[in-house]
Amino acid sequence: MAVKTASGAPAALPAGAEAPAKRGFWAWLNRRMPIEEFVATQVTGYYAPKNFNIWYFFGSLAGLVLVLQLFSGIYLTMFYKVGEATSFDSVEYIMREVDYGWLIRYLHSTGASAFFIVVYLHMYRALLYGSYRAPRELLWLLGMCIYLALMAEAFMGYVLPWGNMSFWGAQVIVNLFGTIPGIGPGLVEWIRGDYGIADATLNRFFALHVALLPLALLLLVALHLVALRQTGSNNPDGIEIKAKLGPDGHPLDGVPFHPYYTVKDVVGIGVFAVLFAIVVFFVPTLGGLFLEAPNFEPANPLSTPEHIAPVWYFTPYYAILRAVPDQRLGALLMLLAVSAFIFLPWLDRSPVKSIRYKGWMSRGALTLFSVSFVALGYLGLQPAEGLYVMLARIFTVIYFLFFLLMPFYTRLEPVKPVPERVTYHAH
Ligand code: HEM
Repeated sequence: MAVKTASGAPAALPAGAEAPAKRGFWAWLNRRMPIEEFVATQVTGYYAPKNFNIWYFFGSLAGLVLVLQLFSGIYLTMFYKVGEATSFDSVEYIMREVDYGWLIRYLHSTGASAFFIVVYLHMYRALLYGSYRAPRELLWLLGMCIYLALMAEAFMGYVLPWGNMSFWGAQVIVNLFGTIPGIGPGLVEWIRGDYGIADATLNRFFALHVALLPLALLLLVALHLVALRQTGSNNPDGIEIKAKLGPDGHPLDGVPFHPYYTVKDVVGIGVFAVLFAIVVFFVPTLGGLFLEAPNFEPANPLSTPEHIAPVWYFTPYYAILRAVPDQRLGALLMLLAVSAFIFLPWLDRSPVKSIRYKGWMSRGALTLFSVSFVALGYLGLQPAEGLYVMLARIFTVIYFLFFLLMPFYTRLEPVKPVPERVTYHAH
């Protein structure tokens, strides 16, 4: 029994005596799994810059949407029946007969778009503040792996309802592999598992969508967070807070992640949840942007939809593909457009990280790039004809110039002086 003083408080231990082992289930658990230690070092003892702004909401929101997709996806899998003959009808069954099936399906389909909105904003923050720069190159590269895995996940998920756009979308995208010299045609057949997009294709896409890619995403996100923990977060000033430590060994410009940023993230989650619910309950297809009209008709190899277009999050790249008359070159440019982000840590030669202190050339380049990305996204939804193709060509050139000229304009332009400490105004 513990020794107590007259007031009931535990008595101080004599010098040299060992503290009695803590008792109870929590102590038992912690001796076997260091939960308290983990929280003390990784949550309350993890210091993040104190000047985060709203751009820093999107990492935790991406994590939230990932969890939402996993749970709604598992629920859908309980009723979905993969197969050429069953897929479309089973989705209709979920929408009409399964209790709250419509809600689960709309959560999942809206969740896919929300995932890309959140991830694009998350990536844009990195472009604004130079978060891809050393020492965070690996964090950025892991992020790019997540982005590519997410694209594969979304593409295969879109095929599963076996609607007419599922079928024709898969047809267009899988055929792109045919443009690879030499191995192309064989590779296409290998991916499809048949001479056309068929039952075998649908089955393997299902396996990848529900098992392999979610596992890969979870693993990559875990690695992303480990890499983040190692370097610490960047911030809107692009200053390394670890360079200035206080007497307690913690960064002078840092605050403990918990409670400061857990509370902040809850605000972001609240706002996100309201906007998300408005879409799910009132406009789940968002006028064909989140779920396209031809996908409410069953797959039909004999009837091509009037305009084959992917969901909005792929359309900037799709516009680049169609801007080039030669299909092989178009496919190559599309691949380069997606992978160009990988090279950012080495293309940006500016002496400063954040756009706050970069010069007018970087600001102008980022603005033009943003406009061209959004414009290409719009053009990818339009028919590939006349003025649309002309504009897509112009914006494709701007898109690539942003990357190709980066080593030059980031070095040539005059930059503003970076402050010693982060800029922070208490509210
Ligand atoms: C499932 C998807 C993702 C999740 C769950 C996720 C999660 C996170 C979290 C929680 C943070 C710290 C909080 C924050 O800075 O907002 C973070 C930081 C970061 N992420 Fe991600 N991320 C994802 C995808 C990506 C992608 C696709 C990229 C880029 C290609 C990326 C690049 C970065 C960078 C550069 C940082 C550091 C930012 C800074 O400190 O300024 N992430 N991520």
